[in-house]
Amino acid sequence: MRNKRVLFKVFIAAITATVFFACRHSLDDVIGGGSGNGGGTTPPAVTNCSPDSVYFVNEIMPLISSNCTMSGCHDNVTHADGVNLTTYAKIMQYVVAGNATNSKLYKVIIKTNGDRMPPPPMPAFTTEQKAKIQKWINQGAKNNSCTGSCDTAIFTYSGAVKNIMGNKCVGCHNPSNLGGNIDLSTYNAVKVSALNGKLYGSIAHQPGYSAMPKNATKLSDCEIRQVQKWIDAGSLNN
Ligand code: HEC
Repeated sequence: MRNKRVLFKVFIAAITATVFFACRHSLDDVIGGGSGNGGGTTPPAVTNCSPDSVYFVNEIMPLISSNCTMSGCHDNVTHADGVNLTTYAKIMQYVVAGNATNSKLYKVIIKTNGDRMPPPPMPAFTTEQKAKIQKWINQGAKNNSCTGSCDTAIFTYSGAVKNIMGNKCVGCHNPSNLGGNIDLSTYNAVKVSALNGKLYGSIAHQPGYSAMPKNATKLSDCEIRQVQKWIDAGSLNN
């Protein structure tokens, strides 16, 4: 009799948990939001992001925040060479809308000598990142944003985590600029911070951790969930 009652309770608990997690998953997927870096094949639940457009708020500002406006460079305090790149309006002083070729912002990132930005030994923007900035300028350099391009069903390293790190963290966390002594530029390096809890603690803004990305907008709930699911699944190089 007692055993039966215990069994029944376990049964009810299991059903409740299943329903709860199922709901949570679908809710997460709908909430979505944030960056255009899902990078997978499953279409997100709701999105107004056009795959043909580059969005300033989602894609360009994070690149500039993590590669140009760190302390000692183009931030509010230092504004190296008089250049401050902390807001859209300030960035637009170096952009000719619709014309990347004539935009100082674009010209300096494609230089191949010592004058290029970010300056050596900092890593240059990747070909993909340069193309994104070029496209955004040529599309009119608007102060635009979109929501829902991120999908929590995608949580592999190559499909989600690597892009988030590359676009929002690596500028301050690479061997030439080791913020907090932390490297996030390779899988092995990211894994170290995943395993010691700092990666999740910092992006989820948990107490006891420095909130990341530093001096920039918090990652979207969807992006945080992607990283969390990747960690929970064993931080694989997948
Ligand atoms: C503008 C530069 C900058 C950006 C962008 C940035 N970080 Fe940091 N990060 C730092 C600095 C500097 C520290 C050292 C602690 C501090 O100053 O707050 C740090 C510390 C950390 C730590 C250690 C936290 C702790 O409490 O020990 C982690 C983990 C981290 N960053 C992860 C990230 C991740 C993930 C991103 C991208 C989502 C990111 N950072 C983006 C500069 C940056």
